[in-house]
Parts: sequence; structure tokens; C-alpha cells
Amino acid sequence: MPNAKIAGIGYYVPENKVTNNDLARVMDTSDEWIQERTGIVERRYAKKHEESTTTMGVEAAKIAIERAGITNEDIDFIIFATLSPDYYFPGCGVLLQREMGMLGVGALDIRNQCSGFVYGLSIADQFVKSGMYKNVLLVGSEFHSMGLDFSTRGRNVTVIFGDGAGAVVVQPTEEEGKGILSTHLHADGTYAEKLAYINPGSHAGKWEDKERFGYPDVEFGGAFLTQKMWDDEDLFPNMEGQAVFKMAVQKFPEVIMEALQTNGLQPEDIDMLVPHQANLRISQFVQRRMKLRDDQVWNNIQKFGNTTAASIPIALCEAWEQGAVKDGDLVCLAAFGSGFTWGSALIRW
Ligand code: COA
Repeated sequence: MPNAKIAGIGYYVPENKVTNNDLARVMDTSDEWIQERTGIVERRYAKKHEESTTTMGVEAAKIAIERAGITNEDIDFIIFATLSPDYYFPGCGVLLQREMGMLGVGALDIRNQCSGFVYGLSIADQFVKSGMYKNVLLVGSEFHSMGLDFSTRGRNVTVIFGDGAGAVVVQPTEEEGKGILSTHLHADGTYAEKLAYINPGSHAGKWEDKERFGYPDVEFGGAFLTQKMWDDEDLFPNMEGQAVFKMAVQKFPEVIMEALQTNGLQPEDIDMLVPHQANLRISQFVQRRMKLRDDQVWNNIQKFGNTTAASIPIALCEAWEQGAVKDGDLVCLAAFGSGFTWGSALIRW
């Protein structure tokens, strides 16, 4: 059975840079607070009415496909990871497919938030290894800035997130020992509401949510979106930052070690760790815990913020473009986020 490899990679970030001081104009925050707690200096915001999660994904996908040395017609399966889709349904997978003219091939959307890319890579890996598909396009893209609370109430979440997209083409490789060595996926739904965007949704089914969110007391029907959600401005993501932080610094090292142990390797064997860019403080904590040098970890959250499903492919692509990921390198991808879900992938580049 051949291994699967990343044959092409690309990323796209919107031009518009938004600094911490720009945010401090609309909410009670400061450059100092944001940099100290998250490491973020600026992030990109997509152009409303011009760009979407899908169009950003398309831009990243075009680069990945070209670098894989194939054309759109060669793609035989699409996986799209996002938490900020253009539509509630259908997913961005079919929208990207329509834009790129790959009609007829399967398109799968996955909703695993910050670990969406690692989950997607694992799915692509299984499909390619099994021989079912030869060119899987995996895209992670987010348009967070459309759905954040820019009042002071939302500041703990809003300052963290940015927009952008990354994409890879996964293909079989005949090279012995090369490509995706293993992937490891985990989840614990106990913490589902600790980092969540719950409205609009169908959770009227939960009795305690009926009054709180103003779901109408009708025998049939209702709506995912209620007037009360609008009136209470209860339409934004919420996060218990400290709970997320605590769990992240435990699960990142755990799942990285799981990948290494599966392959009989040690932290010192890693040439490049590309962690999901959740928060620079989390990455630094993980680096210290794993006793990795600065040149073994790629961080770019300072420039782009946390771009959820797009963060790993953006960071991996940047590292590769700058020559920090080279042929034969051992690359480890690791993610943690809402769900909670977490995962890792070990790749011999
Ligand atoms: N600017 C200024 N003050 C802010 C703020 C902001 N953007 N966000 C929160 N605060 C305030 C709070 O209101 C609170 O004020 P109070 O003490 O007067 O009540 C104070 O800062 C401390 O809030 P707290 O939430 O305890 O801060 P923290 O030290 O936990 O830092 C996070 C907040 C979000 C930076 C931190 O919890 C974190 O990084 N968590 C992980 C988040 C993450 O990685 N998410 C992505 C996961 S994929």
C-alpha cells in the first residue's frame, strides 16, 4: 500500500491588515494586552461583499493544484474544513467545486474547527492509501471577521481570530518511508460549549434553552434563528479562555507524543512542528514542554491571528516557502480546539 504525501500546498490571506490598535478603536482593549496574552500583532480581514470563505479557499486551492503539477480536472475528491461557511448548508465543498469546475467528484465538508485540517488530512490519507482516490484536494478556510462581536463584550474572542485559507493536494507516493506516516484523532464532547458558536441552531430541543433563546412554543416548526437571539445579540462565539488554555497545553504534547511513539521517534527527531496557531503562549508552552528549539517550531500567529481550520496549512506553506521544511524533513502537525477536538499528523516530507 503506497503512502500518501502532500504533493502541493498553497495559502491565501486577504490584503487588509488589522492591527491591535485598530481593534482598540472600537472596543476596550490594547495592543499591550493582546500581545502579552496571545502574541498577536495583526490579523487579516477579508473584504466584505467581495470575498467569502469559498473564494479564499479557491485562491489557496489554485496554488496547491499548480504546485502539485496537476490541473483541476485531476482532482477526484474535495474536503473542505471550516467553521465559517458561506451557507448553513450546502457546505463550501460544493461551492468551491462549482467555482473551480470539478463537477461530479465527491465533496465532503468537515466541522472540526481548529483541528479540521488534521482531521481532513487523516481522511485524505485513508482515501489515498486505500487506492480509492489519487488527487484529494483538502482546503481549510475561514471568514471569522463576519461573525465576531466587535463590542467590548466580545473582546476575549474577537482579538484572537483572523481570516484566510490554506490548501493541499494529497497524492500517493511510491518513495519508501516518505509521506504521511500516521495521523491521530481525538475528541471529548464533555467540553462542547466551552468554545462554541451555538446560535442560530436547533438546540430548542434542549428544554432549558427554550426560554433562554426564545424558541417559539409551537407544535410544529420554529426557526434556528429567533427574535430573542437578535435582541440579546446572542449571535456570537463564546469561549472560556482559561479552560481552553488548560486543556490545550495538556493535549498538544500528548497527541504529539502519540504520533512520535507510534513511529518509534523522539521529540528531538522533529525537524519542524507546525502547531495550530491557537495562541503564541500555548505554542511556547508546548515547545518548552517538548524541549524543542526555536527552529523546530513554526509560529506565524503574530501576523495572521488564529485562522482556525486554515492555520496549519497557512503556517506549513509559509514554512515550506521559506525553506524551513525541506525534502526528507520530519514534520509534525498538531491541533487542538472547539469540541474539544485534537489531533496530530507525522509526515516525512
Ligand atoms: N483586551 C483587554 N482585556 C481583556 C480582553 C481584551 N481583548 N479580553 C479579556 N480581557 C479582560 C477580561 O475582561 C478580564 O478582566 P477582569 O479581570 O476585569 O474581569 C481580564 O482581561 C482577564 O480575563 P481572562 O479571561 O481571565 O484572561 P486570560 O488571562 O485567561 O486571557 C485569553 C484570555 C483568551 C487570552 C486566554 O484565556 C487564552 O489564551 N485562552 C486560550 C484561547 C485560545 O487559544 N483559543 C483558541 C483555541 S483554538
